[in-house]
Amino acid sequence: MSYLANPTRYDSMEYRRCGRSGLKLPAISLGLWHNFGGVDVFENYRDILCTAFDKGVTHFDLANNYGPPPGSAEENFGIVLKKDLLPYRDELIISSKAGYLMWPGPYGEWSSRKYLIASCDQSLKRMGLDYVDIFYSHRPDPNTPLEETMGALDSIVRQGKALYVGISSYSAEDTAKAINILQQLGTPCLIHQPKYSMFDRWVEGGLMDVLGDEGVGCIPFSPLAQGLLTNKYLNGIPTGSRAALAHGALPAERITPELVEKLKKLNEIATERNQSLAQMALAWLLKDPRVTSVLIGASRTSQLLDSLDCLKNIIFSDEELAKIENILNLDNES
Ligand SMILES: NC(=O)c1ccc[n+]([C@@H]2O[C@H](COP(=O)([O-])OP(=O)(O)OC[C@H]3O[C@@H](n4cnc5c(N)ncnc54)[C@H](OP(=O)(O)O)[C@@H]3O)[C@@H](O)[C@H]2O)c1
Repeated sequence: MSYLANPTRYDSMEYRRCGRSGLKLPAISLGLWHNFGGVDVFENYRDILCTAFDKGVTHFDLANNYGPPPGSAEENFGIVLKKDLLPYRDELIISSKAGYLMWPGPYGEWSSRKYLIASCDQSLKRMGLDYVDIFYSHRPDPNTPLEETMGALDSIVRQGKALYVGISSYSAEDTAKAINILQQLGTPCLIHQPKYSMFDRWVEGGLMDVLGDEGVGCIPFSPLAQGLLTNKYLNGIPTGSRAALAHGALPAERITPELVEKLKKLNEIATERNQSLAQMALAWLLKDPRVTSVLIGASRTSQLLDSLDCLKNIIFSDEELAKIENILNLDNES
């Protein structure tokens, strides 16, 4: 059946300006790290993608290595694009990245100019696109000069293969340097993609201030700590969940009785707020105006719909915040 986008798709989504750029992103974006690869079911991920767009999710985040196998998420996204979403290309913000291992030999990972430019070309081919909206350096590379990596990002924009550039998982210090180099090159750094959730708060130690001061956007990844910050693991490890899958990136050992205890306490606060735990965890990130968008994953459409409803309440009382803080500080388990 051919897809026709929902005419009301822009009615309920909030769009936030990405730093001081002209680009707005949806408060919720969808990532294709898991659930869209060669091991996954076409009709399932097609439905997630089209439903997301129907709900105003205009931003889809990919990387060269997403799958498994690596590359297959971009290929599958390309298939759904061709089938359903290409008529709406100008309504979409599609990102990709390079940094992790993609092909053998010395030029298949990290952040040299050689690797980044070749990988961007490969990603465009896999997705069947002329350009991506955002291209990222996926991780800092201790052995490549920052000038070389940022120079490659600048070249990719000048070659018309990306409209904007970003960096992921760079420290506050390297981020400040990268922003400065990109500024001098005339290709401003649009956005930083760090890991950030209630369970992983390294960005609060300086990075958020750099991004806020420099007017660079922030799109936290794994905002649900890969599914931990949901009601999914409150009563064991369900079949098919990321912690149960051999190719999932969430080791089952993470789900200790202490962690479950903490999740149950957080869930009580979420219930008092008339939210699911997932909704509260996303709202908790979106309360910071420096957060442009939260980058969620979903293995089924019902999860996406649940997560999107976080936008109904992103305001926290001081008392709620203090209670959450107390629970998070109970121990160092997570
Ligand atoms: N830059 C980087 O280095 C980097 C690294 C990692 C991720 N990312 C990006 O961030 C995106 C999101 O990462 P993530 O998948 O780890 O995000 P996440 O949102 O923290 O976790 C997604 C998982 O949580 C579960 N889930 C989601 N919504 C739920 C709900 N409402 N109720 C119950 N369970 C729910 C599902 O688990 P089940 O699959 O178990 O059902 C889903 O697969 C990636 O796709 C990628 O684009 C970037």
